[in-house]
Amino acid sequence: MDRICVVGGRPLNGTIRISGAKNAALPLMIASVLTDEALTLENLPRLADVSSLVRILGNHGVDYSIQGKRAGEEAVTGQTVHLQAGHIVDTTAPYELVSTMRASFWVVAPLLARMGEARVSLPGGCAIGTRPVDLLITALERLGAKVDIEAGYVVAKAPSGGLKGAEIDFSKVTVGGTHTALMAAVLADGTSVIHNAAREPEVVDLAACLTKMGARIKGAGTATIEIEGVAKLNGTRHAVLPDRIETGTYAMAVAMTGGDVLLQGARPELLQGALDTLQAAGATVTTTEEGLRVARNGAGITAVDVTTEPFPGFPTDLQAQFMALMTKARGTSRITETIFENRFMHVQELARLGAHIRLDGDAAIVDGVETLKGAPVMATDLRASVSLVIAALAAEGETIVNRVYHLDRGFEQLERKLSQCGASIERLSTGH
Ligand code: EPZ
Repeated sequence: MDRICVVGGRPLNGTIRISGAKNAALPLMIASVLTDEALTLENLPRLADVSSLVRILGNHGVDYSIQGKRAGEEAVTGQTVHLQAGHIVDTTAPYELVSTMRASFWVVAPLLARMGEARVSLPGGCAIGTRPVDLLITALERLGAKVDIEAGYVVAKAPSGGLKGAEIDFSKVTVGGTHTALMAAVLADGTSVIHNAAREPEVVDLAACLTKMGARIKGAGTATIEIEGVAKLNGTRHAVLPDRIETGTYAMAVAMTGGDVLLQGARPELLQGALDTLQAAGATVTTTEEGLRVARNGAGITAVDVTTEPFPGFPTDLQAQFMALMTKARGTSRITETIFENRFMHVQELARLGAHIRLDGDAAIVDGVETLKGAPVMATDLRASVSLVIAALAAEGETIVNRVYHLDRGFEQLERKLSQCGASIERLSTGH
């Protein structure tokens, strides 16, 4: 199993190109199931989760091809892919495939909308919380589907005339629920309104792509989305938006180590809340024509309290990284997690590096320390893993991060991007 070795203490200086967003790419790829024509996606990140989804979609009959130059070891630019669901050959998404990645459950919506039926394994729990799908199921039921749970599978059937437009009122903001409701409603008969919709940029990106495919959607990016169903969707070409979580992660890494880095292609408006917090903590953030420049020279980091919230608030997917930054801040910060009930698995691993953190219900209290020291660490999810890398970059000596496969799910060429900016970071492959 691969590990990553980081020797801390070097500032980051240079340029990092921001990849296409994993969490936008996944629903966009799933949207290809809605039409028999080709959906071409540009700027698709090369990630383990993308490869897993290609396998899952392939099982339903979606053809996948990469345009132009094949992904070489050295390439860091986003790839362009074609996805075409000419014929859906299977409406079942089996446990073996869905259990590898929760987002694949969302395939239930386009299968149901286009084929009138879907049988999709329940995604199950996950290291960051129970993560149920009750709200997604209720949304499908509102659109007229009959949904049963049979032997661990969600079995959904549309009425004989297909799904019917309806009012869907989410009791809680859910990104996956909003994606699911959108993909089901675009082919429903009549108008649907999603209330308390997620306003995340990834929802806006999905709606933009669906609109190019011929869907009629108003209000994406607000809490109320209106969808007028159409009979058929067409293929299109769409570029995946830049990854705001990758952007925030590298911004925090620079704040942690000091230095000056251009995050090329980043769009600051996608993470303004997090950038404001970072500035309050002592980093300098400037928007340039090419993206976003983050610097910290001289001044130290100051403790700042944060609370995770749905967009446009501070994202839960940056909570672990921000906590890593706070471990070396001047003062005490309180980091409150309101989205997932168990997203503090990084706390005990950061403690191995010398961080002082205690948990208080849904909050972590971080007392900044002068020095972190390298150690072997391991993480249980994607964002927690990268928070350990951030801490390691500023720790004295060597840190070995185990279970690198978590990082490969969501960070394209992490070691390469960081080492190009002066970090001492390398992958130790099995056998080393
Ligand atoms: C998406 O997950 C992201 N995943 C997550 O990123 C992200 O943390 C999350 O949104 C919140 O921003 C992808 O986009 C692939 P939710 P999702 O439905 O859609 C509860 C990462 O690291 N809930 O918005 O699954 C749920 O338990 C990942 O990239 C229900 O109770 O999240 C949570 O408390 C991790 N019932 C809250 O809602 C439901 O039916 C928000 O979850 C659905 C959700």
